[in-house]
Amino acid sequence: MASRSPSQRNAHWFRSTVVYEVVPRSFRDANGDGVGDLAGVTEKLDYLADLGIGAIWLLPFYRSPWRDEGYDIADHYTVDPSLGTVADLDRLVHEAHARSIRVLGDLVTNHVSLEHPWFQEARRDRASPYRSWFLWSDTAKEFSRSRVIFRDFERANWTWDDVAGQYYFHRFYAFQPDLNYDSPEVHAEMLRVARFWLGHGLDGYRCDAVPYLYKREGTRCQSLPEVHRFFRELRAMMDAEFPGSVLVAEANQSVPETVPYFGDGHEFQMVMHFPLMPNLFLAWGEGDPRRVRHVLRATLPTPNGSAWAYFLRNHDEVTLEQTSDDEREMFLWLYGRDDRTVINGGIRRRLAPMLDGDDASVLFLTALVLSLPGTPFLYYGDEIGMGDRPDIADRDGVRTPMQWTSGPSGGFSTSTPDRLVRPPVIDPKYAPDARNVADQASRPGSLLSQVRRLIAWRKAHPAEAVGDDFSRSNGEGPGVLAFSRNGGSTRTLHIYNFSRDAASGSLRLPRALEPAVLEPGPGEASWTLAEGRLSYRIQGRSFAWFAASTGPK
Ligand code: NOJ
Repeated sequence: MASRSPSQRNAHWFRSTVVYEVVPRSFRDANGDGVGDLAGVTEKLDYLADLGIGAIWLLPFYRSPWRDEGYDIADHYTVDPSLGTVADLDRLVHEAHARSIRVLGDLVTNHVSLEHPWFQEARRDRASPYRSWFLWSDTAKEFSRSRVIFRDFERANWTWDDVAGQYYFHRFYAFQPDLNYDSPEVHAEMLRVARFWLGHGLDGYRCDAVPYLYKREGTRCQSLPEVHRFFRELRAMMDAEFPGSVLVAEANQSVPETVPYFGDGHEFQMVMHFPLMPNLFLAWGEGDPRRVRHVLRATLPTPNGSAWAYFLRNHDEVTLEQTSDDEREMFLWLYGRDDRTVINGGIRRRLAPMLDGDDASVLFLTALVLSLPGTPFLYYGDEIGMGDRPDIADRDGVRTPMQWTSGPSGGFSTSTPDRLVRPPVIDPKYAPDARNVADQASRPGSLLSQVRRLIAWRKAHPAEAVGDDFSRSNGEGPGVLAFSRNGGSTRTLHIYNFSRDAASGSLRLPRALEPAVLEPGPGEASWTLAEGRLSYRIQGRSFAWFAASTGPK
C-alpha cells in the first residue's frame, strides 16, 4: 500500500534536500544471505535520518539477471527476489516517509534485459506484437553516427541475433536491447511502469540514459526533440497524478545539450551536473577554481524552480566524456595513474582513494557540492571515506559492501566475506577495520561527524537562489572561489581556497542586511566585519562557511 507522500505537501522539497544514492545490493543485508536487500535499507533509515539525508535514490530493484547492477530489467513490475518483495518496498517507503525521507527510484526507459519476455517473444517471431518494440536491421548500417558508450566492452551498437535472424540495436551492453520509442505501445508501457511505482509511494525517479530513447538517421541519436517531448509528457502525467513527485535526468552531455533538459520548468526538476563534475576534480588537482567558476557561470541560474543535481561520485566510473583531450590527459595524470582503474575513457575510483584517503580533501569537495545552488547527491560510503577494489571487473569495484562496523564483512552481513554479493575492501587503509560507521559516529572529529555537521548547518540556513555572482568582483584572490547565497533574511557566504597558499580577500554584504552580524559555520578562516564587508584570511586547501543576517538596529 502506498503511504501518502510528504512530497504532496511541498512541491519544491527537492531544492533544500540532500539526496543519498543507495546501491541496494551493497548497502545492508538483513536476511544474512550475503546480498543487500530492501529490508536492509529500511534498517538503516535512522542512520540516514541522523545524517540529515532528505531523500534516497535507490538503484534498480526490479527483477534482473544482474549483469549490469539491475540496469538490465527482466520484469519492471516486481522486486527482484534477491532484494525482497513488493511488500518490503512498501515498508521501506512507509518508514522513510515517517522520517521525512523521500524515496526516488531509477526509471530505466532506454533498454531492457535480453532475458525480458518482451525481447524473448520479439526475437522468436517476426509476427509477434513485440517485434516492433525493438529496433532490427538486416545490414547493421543504420544510425552509424550513434557513438558506442561502453567502448571497452562493445564494438558496435548492432549485434546479430541468430534467433531473430536480424541485428538488434543496443546503446549499451549487447545484453541490453534498446526499446523502440516509435512504437506507441512502448511509449504507453513506460508511462505505466512509472505510474506503477509512484502508486507504491515513490517520490520520483532518477531517469537512466535519458538522451538516447529516439534514433533518427543522420543524427548522433541523442537529445532529439522527441526525447524532450517524451519526458515532458511523463512530467505532465506526474504533475497531474502524483503532485510533488520529481524527475532527475541522467544526461551525460555538454552544457548546451544538458541545460535544455530543464525544459523551461516543464521537463526535469533536476539534471545531473555532468559538465561540472570532472571540473571539480580538475580544479582541486590544479589548485585553481577557474574552470569551476566558468562552468557555473554558464549554467546558473536554472529555470523556474528547478535545480542542478551536484555529485562527486556515483556507482559508475568518473566519466570524462565532457572534457577536452587536454583536460582528459590532465585528469588521468592526476587521478588515473593506476591503469587498472581506467575504463571507457574514465576512471572507476571512489572519492576517498581519488584524494589519497585525505579526509580534509574529501570534506572540502563535499562542502563545495553541499553549498552550491542546487541539490547535492552523495554516494553511499563516501561520507566515511570508503575505498574501492580496482581488481574487480567493470564498475563493481566502487560498489563494495557498505562498512557499518569493523570486522571482515564490515557489519554489512552476517555472512562471511567470501559469500558476499561482491568482495569487501581489503586494503588496510580503507578496510572496515580502518573506516566504518560505528567508529566514526562516536568520534566528533571524524569525517562522518564533519559531513553530518555540514548537512545540519545547510539545513539550518536554507538558501534559495544564487546571491552574488561567481566573479572576482567578490574579492576572491587567485585560487579562491567565493560566493554568497540568498536565504531571504540571511545570506550564506562560502569561501573555498583551492590553492596551497594562504589567501586574503573580502566579500561585500548586501546593504539590506546592515547592520549585519556574522555567524561562522563549518570550516575555518580568520575574519573581520567592517563597513558592510567581510574580510577574510584563509589557509591553503581550506574552506569556510558563514551566515550573515541583520543585527539589532
Ligand atoms: C547509466 C547507469 O548509471 C549505468 O550504471 C548503466 O550501466 C547504464 N546507464 C546503462 O543502463
